[in-house]
Formats: sequence, C-alpha cells, structure tokens
Amino acid sequence: MQNVVVSHLGDYSIRRCEREDIPSVIQINMDTLPEHYSDYFYYDILSEFPETFLVTELNGALVGYIMCRIEYGFSQLKRLSLARKGHIVSVAVEQAHRRKGIGTNLILISHSEMAKKSAAECYLEVRVSNHEAIALYERAGYRVTGQVDAYYRDGEGALVMAVKLEK
Ligand code: ACO
Ligand code: ZN
Repeated sequence: MQNVVVSHLGDYSIRRCEREDIPSVIQINMDTLPEHYSDYFYYDILSEFPETFLVTELNGALVGYIMCRIEYGFSQLKRLSLARKGHIVSVAVEQAHRRKGIGTNLILISHSEMAKKSAAECYLEVRVSNHEAIALYERAGYRVTGQVDAYYRDGEGALVMAVKLEK
C-alpha cells in the first residue's frame, strides 16, 4: 500500500501507520513504556481510527508512534456537558530520538486529524511521575483536569490532562 506521509521533520517523516508497521510499533512500546497491550488492541485501533494512528520513520525504521481514539462522553473541560473527545491512548519516541520535536509533532498532527473528525477536545492519562511527558503535554496546551489514584497496575496514580482543540 502507498504510505500516507503527513509531515516531515528534518530527516524524519511522519506518516499514517499501516498494518505492517504494527510489529515495530509494539517493539517501540516494549522499549519505552511499562503499559503493554495485546496485538489485537493495536490492529483494532488502527482499523477503527487510522487517521490518528501515526508513526515517525527515519531511513526506513520506525522511531515513534501515537495512537488515539475518538470517544463521546463527559467533557474534561466543561462541567456536565457532553463532548466528542480525542483520547491519546499511547505516544512514545525511542530514547535516541527524543528532544527533537517528534513527540510534539505527533500530538499536534493527531489533534488536527481529531478536529477534522469534529472532536472538540483531547485528553489523556499520564503517570504522576512522568515529568518528561507532563512537560510535553503542558507545552502543547494541556492542563490537569483530574487525578485517578492507583490507575496503573503497579499502583501508581494518573493525572488526567486535557486540551481544547482548535476547529
Ligand atoms: N525533560 C524535560 N522536559 C522534557 C523532556 C525531558 N526529558 N522531554 C520532553 N520535554 C518537554 C520539553 O519542554 C520539550 O521541549 P524542548 O525539547 O524544546 O525543551 C517538549 O517536552 C517537547 O519535546 P519533544 O521533543 O516534542 O518530545 P519527544 O519527542 O522527546 O517525546 C515523549 C516525548 C514521547 C514523552 C518521550 O520522552 C517518550 O517516549 N517517553 C517514554 C514514553 C512515554 O512516557 N510516553 C508517554 C506516556 S503517557 C501517554 O502515552 C498518554
Ligand atoms: Zn487513556
């Protein structure tokens, strides 16, 4: 299949994930995060939300990914109102390729794809100790809207962070 390239960042290209990329995406997840998912979970998100499942590639190898869902439910930003919301399920960049703007670009491109799908806001959960990611989200406009105790299997809590999406 023809790759759908959505952006370039220096020598990196950001493009839509394809089914054949999923093993590499799983490898990046294994290398970088303690939260793992079944193979089926990745394929399922890809088939349901292909526009917001993006990968970053350098010289034919994947170095980062973002996968998202679009949901309908209570707004994280406006009390007691319902909203169509993007949900960043997982984003990661291999250690050797960090602090080059890849994480930010993956997030901003997924935001614009979510906005095209009429999502009014985007939210995510992040470990309370994950200062790198929290700093990245704050730079992208997110603010903390909630906290969930013992969200992760090892007992650590999560911050819920959300941002309004521009139309
Ligand atoms: N220390 C302090 N600030 C940081 C750090 C850090 N180590 N990393 C990123 N930031 C902040 C900085 O403000 C940075 O801007 P700057 O480099 O101009 O100072 C800004 O975030 C943007 O950084 P990017 O280069 O765009 O982000 P990067 O490509 O390095 O990816 C990421 C960040 C995805 C968090 C990466 O560190 C990573 O993969 N970590 C392990 C996996 C992970 O924790 N993922 C998030 C889990 S939560 C979830 O998926 C919903
Ligand atoms: Zn989540």
